[in-house]
Amino acid sequence: MSRPKARPVKRIAFAVAGAGAIAACVSMVLATSATAATTLGASAAEKGRYFGAAVAANKLSDTAYTTILNREFNSVTPENEMKIDATEPNQNQFNYTNADRIVSHARSRGMQVRGHTLAWHSQQPGWMQNMSGSALRSAMLNHVTQVTTHFRGQVVAWDVVNEAFADGSSGARRDSNLQRTGNDWIEAAFRAARAADPNAKLCYNDYNTDDWTHAKTQAVYNMVRDFKSRGVPIDCVGLQSHFNSGSPYPSNYRTTLSNFAALGVDVQITELDIEGSGTTQANTYRNVVNDCLAVARCNGITVWGIRDTDSWRASGTPLLFDGSGNKKPAYEAVLSALNTGNPTTPPPTTPGNTTPPPTTPPPTTPPPGGAGCSATVSVNQWTGGFVATVRVTAGSSTLTGWTVSLTLPGGATITNAWNANRSGNSGAVSFTNVSYNGSVAAGQSTEFGFQANGTGSGLTPTCTAR
Ligand code: G3I
Repeated sequence: MSRPKARPVKRIAFAVAGAGAIAACVSMVLATSATAATTLGASAAEKGRYFGAAVAANKLSDTAYTTILNREFNSVTPENEMKIDATEPNQNQFNYTNADRIVSHARSRGMQVRGHTLAWHSQQPGWMQNMSGSALRSAMLNHVTQVTTHFRGQVVAWDVVNEAFADGSSGARRDSNLQRTGNDWIEAAFRAARAADPNAKLCYNDYNTDDWTHAKTQAVYNMVRDFKSRGVPIDCVGLQSHFNSGSPYPSNYRTTLSNFAALGVDVQITELDIEGSGTTQANTYRNVVNDCLAVARCNGITVWGIRDTDSWRASGTPLLFDGSGNKKPAYEAVLSALNTGNPTTPPPTTPGNTTPPPTTPPPTTPPPGGAGCSATVSVNQWTGGFVATVRVTAGSSTLTGWTVSLTLPGGATITNAWNANRSGNSGAVSFTNVSYNGSVAAGQSTEFGFQANGTGSGLTPTCTAR
């Protein structure tokens, strides 16, 4: 988006000024225009970021709506039109009519497009809801391939997988028909997307992943770290950031952004809305913008709708414009934060600054016992068997050898193992390092795995240093 021209009043002042005053006036005008973009998109662009909105195709004929959209935003996310039920209503029959309308509207005005979303447990068409196993896995991958191919070159970033983790304290994957095709469904989706559109950024997107201390945040962090360590193609993490009294903006939000970014991915605030009104709401919006500006790889913010009345939570008045399209205090706070913010610069650490500075990412598989080691397991289950992948993480000292013990459920029998020596094949079993993975630096990890018949539920590995 281009910068708006200087206001007429300044040009009049310029015309009547004497020669000596002209230079001062010019520098004043330049200084003013250099620091005060007047729209969200233009201001974000000056900070190397985008500012976007979720857009509904059926509102593109509402001129009050499009006037704000076209003026303020330089990124668009289709609110529902790229979801699975919209783009593949019948298996292998693709419908891009409404998504294409939004893409065309956006791109013809120089706005970028975020794609939302390719693989999700929700808003599946009926045919997909009724599928399972390898047929569903193939259908999901075909969907990812077809849709990313259709939009290749038009969508800059995709929410490849949406909301795949459970709420609460488990840190587990959400149960769904997709999850039941095997734990590797997420990475399979990312690989398919990369193959079909190598130039789009590929994001994992979720909600309630804003508070650094929450189990769900940690679980997503661990998945992204694992993907990066194994070369699974992931470029970004989307934090939806739907805030209200039940799910408030957390004071450690900047820490969360910063820690994800430190994994080597972009961080995008993908569905921002903040229920409330007036100064309180405005202040929270300001905090979110300042947090994003403080993290170099937080490269954009999308609000989930334009006017309050467009919101999925309209009664909470969570957006930047009221139902009549007027700018709210929250709008002014966002624009002001964008204009005055100091991007990527860590916050001052003077006394009285209560915003915690970005931290380097702490190990998120906590090394209990300090110098020992810890182990976590992920299980890819199918009918009659499973593969378990065990991650061993060193504590605060370098490991020179490790033993992992766990108890298999009744009926489960190990058929083979890799990257570890195994003792036992049912009941209580243990694994020790092999020659090449016994040495693990403090805080670092190594992995081994095994395949078994039966069911791999409830595995609880314990690790001891040797
Ligand atoms: O278009 C039909 C309309 O014809 C029908 O009369 C009406 C009756 O219910 O439904 C309309 O469709 C609704 C659609 O929004 C468009 O308004 C659907 O029922 C409704 O389920 C759908 O809700 C969307 C929701 O995702 C579905 O999960 C919201 O608009 C959309 O904002 C919301 O977005 C999600 C993100 O994708 C993921 N993160 C959470 C976010 C908020 O829930």
